[in-house]
Amino acid sequence: MDSGSIALGGPRARWCVRAVLLALLATAPCMPARALEGAPLQANGASHTVTYDRYSLLVDGKRIYLWSGSFHYWRLPSPSLWKDVLQKMKAAGYNGVEIYFHWGFHSPRPGVYDFSGIRDVDRLLDMARDEGIYVIARPGPYINAETDGGGFPAWLAATTGKPRTTAPEYTAAYKDWLTHIDAIIARHQVTNGTGSVLLYQVENELYTENDDTRRYMQDIADKARADGITVPLTGNHNDNFLTGLGAPQIPGFDSYPLDFDCTQPDRWNKLYDFSSERMALKDTPLFFPEYQGGAFDQWGGAGNAKCRELTGVPFERVFYKANIAAGSTMQNFYMTYGGINWGYLASPGVYTSYDYGAAIEASRKLTAKYDQQKMLGYFVQSVAPLAKTERLPVRPPTQQGLRDDARINPDDGTQFHFVRHADAASKADDSTHVWMNLAAGETEGGKVVYTSVPQQPDTALRINGRDSKILLAHYRFGSQDLVYSTSEWMTQISSGGRDIALLYGRNGEDGETVLRYKAAPQVRVLAGQVASHFDAKAGTLRLNYRHDGLARVLIGGADGTSLLLLLADDATAATFWQLPSNEGPVLVRGPYLVREAAVSTTDASASLKGDATRPGELEFFNPGTVKSLSWNGRAIGTSVTPSGSLLAQVDGPLPVTLPTLDRWKTHAGSPEAGPRFDDHTWARANLASTKNPYWDGHSPIWNSDDYGFHHGAVWYRGHFKATGHETGIILGVYMGVHLGNHGVFTVWLNGHYLGSNPSSSQLFNIDPSWLQPGKDNVLAVLVDNMGHNQEERNGVSKEPHGLYKATFLGSDAAISWSIQGNLGGEDGVDAVRGPFNDGGLYGEREGWSLPGFDDSSWKDATLPATAAEAGVQWYRTNVTLDLPTGQDIPIALKIDDASERPYRALIIINGWQVGRYISDVGPQHEFELPAGLLHAHGPNTIAIASWSTAAGGGLGKVSLVVQGNVITSLKIDDVAAPGYRDLEGKMKASSGR
Ligand code: GAL
Repeated sequence: MDSGSIALGGPRARWCVRAVLLALLATAPCMPARALEGAPLQANGASHTVTYDRYSLLVDGKRIYLWSGSFHYWRLPSPSLWKDVLQKMKAAGYNGVEIYFHWGFHSPRPGVYDFSGIRDVDRLLDMARDEGIYVIARPGPYINAETDGGGFPAWLAATTGKPRTTAPEYTAAYKDWLTHIDAIIARHQVTNGTGSVLLYQVENELYTENDDTRRYMQDIADKARADGITVPLTGNHNDNFLTGLGAPQIPGFDSYPLDFDCTQPDRWNKLYDFSSERMALKDTPLFFPEYQGGAFDQWGGAGNAKCRELTGVPFERVFYKANIAAGSTMQNFYMTYGGINWGYLASPGVYTSYDYGAAIEASRKLTAKYDQQKMLGYFVQSVAPLAKTERLPVRPPTQQGLRDDARINPDDGTQFHFVRHADAASKADDSTHVWMNLAAGETEGGKVVYTSVPQQPDTALRINGRDSKILLAHYRFGSQDLVYSTSEWMTQISSGGRDIALLYGRNGEDGETVLRYKAAPQVRVLAGQVASHFDAKAGTLRLNYRHDGLARVLIGGADGTSLLLLLADDATAATFWQLPSNEGPVLVRGPYLVREAAVSTTDASASLKGDATRPGELEFFNPGTVKSLSWNGRAIGTSVTPSGSLLAQVDGPLPVTLPTLDRWKTHAGSPEAGPRFDDHTWARANLASTKNPYWDGHSPIWNSDDYGFHHGAVWYRGHFKATGHETGIILGVYMGVHLGNHGVFTVWLNGHYLGSNPSSSQLFNIDPSWLQPGKDNVLAVLVDNMGHNQEERNGVSKEPHGLYKATFLGSDAAISWSIQGNLGGEDGVDAVRGPFNDGGLYGEREGWSLPGFDDSSWKDATLPATAAEAGVQWYRTNVTLDLPTGQDIPIALKIDDASERPYRALIIINGWQVGRYISDVGPQHEFELPAGLLHAHGPNTIAIASWSTAAGGGLGKVSLVVQGNVITSLKIDDVAAPGYRDLEGKMKASSGR
């Protein structure tokens, strides 16, 4: 869609030169606007250049507006679904995806790296390339991200030296990681012509700048270059590492203006205007590697719906537009799809769902936030002049309390007016006129001539509450010349002298669009109520209307060109999809999602693929010659509409009902608590020293990380010869300190329950009748490991886990401790599900969670159930699903408790641990069972381990719930993973049985 052939001349060209002079801006010649192709380059082996200047990135010399979203493949352990997320992003106008590569996710122990199955990042990067979406690669080594250890492998806790410095042991470890991950990233670079990796981020939010960290940053950059990374290096270190040693080429600003307190979703902080940063950057664009796309929630928090409300549509409108107004051409939103902290991926503080209140739900459902992102995404992709703008001085709007921040493309004069309340949080309902310099830049007596917009008497531009509008002016597209619009621009497509433009506004608000024509054009209102007025003297056609549904106006120019104007309200605008195709972009209205479009010129047909939630219309806006359509591979009947579009009907999905879960098998799961449990195969907790800087110094060492038990529950059994005078024991346990601590430990003496404690240290009283003086007595302690802290300061990611203090009252009997965590420790038996899947509960070690385990000898049970005493109880059930084919039906497992009870549960589907539920903390009750882990066509095993921390625990009502239902072109493959029979031998060998 290059409009380079449009002849310049007439008022437009004059205006452009004068406007440029007026604004005292760059003196580059006036060029017509060029629409962005939007789609990244397809890999065809030809190398490309990636450069940048103070305005934007350029690929092969062409400017791009980078509109990107964060997505963590490791939080979605089902590769078919990666494609789903990437396609959904692409369909909303994102041309970028920002990806953290998680060191610990790939490295279960030193020197071992796994890039297969759900860790196959080659496959992920191929998908990104195939979907035409650029990648901002962020391999750390540190990533933060509310994940265990901030992405550091847990084994790093057993190394010396402070992380994120040049400490030698740390350096050797991270360089080994980079050698492995860089090799993969390098293979997928735009610069090689083999992929879509566009940028490479060095480290993550390192806010300590000193000689050592500068060297460290430079070392990572040098390493990347040595490993073949040739794309620009970026940072997200805000005001740090801007110049000199260690400074990445393109610095970036991370910003979470509303913070993470989702309990008050209406509370807004001040909007920070990044204009001064933009002015200060001399050679690089204003880049937001992480701009708030949602908020993570915490154990006991408000829930993701509130986070989505906090960062909802008004926030997106006001804050993201303000970034565009400040001149940013590189925005990434953290997160666009959050996913789940399955297994033990979460850092202390956050729970399983990492939904993040993002534009796409953890269930992969699209939200109103997604619709808003789409409106902006299409805008920034379709209006090419936006990628190079300067600030344009303006006269303030007529209504006090409102502001207009305007920008102008210095080459072609396209203007962007950003109108909002000066106090971004204001909820006032204001109406105003804005001043636009429309008279071709002419001046009177040296003063700019401003026109009050809108021009129609008795109308105004409305800013109702937390809203912001971008008004586009002096914009040439296709064969058209837009003077301005008070509707917002969503997108345009053009072909062969026919243009289609889609504009939108809030339902019930007035809109005014003015176009330039030399002679009166033919105006046909095809739908809706639109008044038109041609001013022959000015050569302008003014259209006035109220946004309501979809108005359609067909305008025929005297020169044979035509324009179909689609004037939508927000809700209707959200039903449009613009997709790239081999024949240029196409526009579709109707279905829930359009993923793919291909046009065949030989048989004048278009093939569309996507999703529908119900039967309904599909309208294909046809700028070319397409005469027939197929949808998800099947031809669909069409009729031609007065708009020149093709109208068809698509089917909806078949309804689904899920089986109820009313037949369970159950078995007790904490034999370790009993006095006669055989722990001779357990590791003796007798190490004399540790490299862990946080260990309090006493010996022997009980830190579970030192024994290779990094994730999930850990058992300690302490044998002692009782004197009979023991009246109590003080136990201290580390469980992760960050963001509130919802760890717990439960203690037994000779099988008698002593108590549970959610904080680090506690005195437990001992009933003397439970002691066996002079004989072997056993303390058993079960500890929940809530994860390794993020590395926010001073090596705190290495904080130890498990027992650190055990002192009797009334006796100095020595206790000899043994320890058992996940089976095999760093040599876990299940490499497919990997190091984060298994903890140290008995049933986890014995494969009770796996499909194929024989539970026929277990007792029958129904749920809910109440536990008479503290301890672990396992529940299993099998469910065969036969969901309709060709449908994507996200399913969650729900636990309901009538009231809070003292228990926590692990939820395991087909051997994959996908949920940690804490009844008396919350807030999560519904746990996504990612499609592919859950088999839509076949048997499934659900296992739940419930740990009652006191009598009265148990397990609530458990059910499967449908989170969505679409008919789709997406193919979802089951994720291959071993069952009980496959792992039985390894489990036996590893447990020494
Ligand atoms: C940033 C960090 C991200 C993530 C985010 C909050 O500071 O770079 O990794 O932790 O905060 O969700």
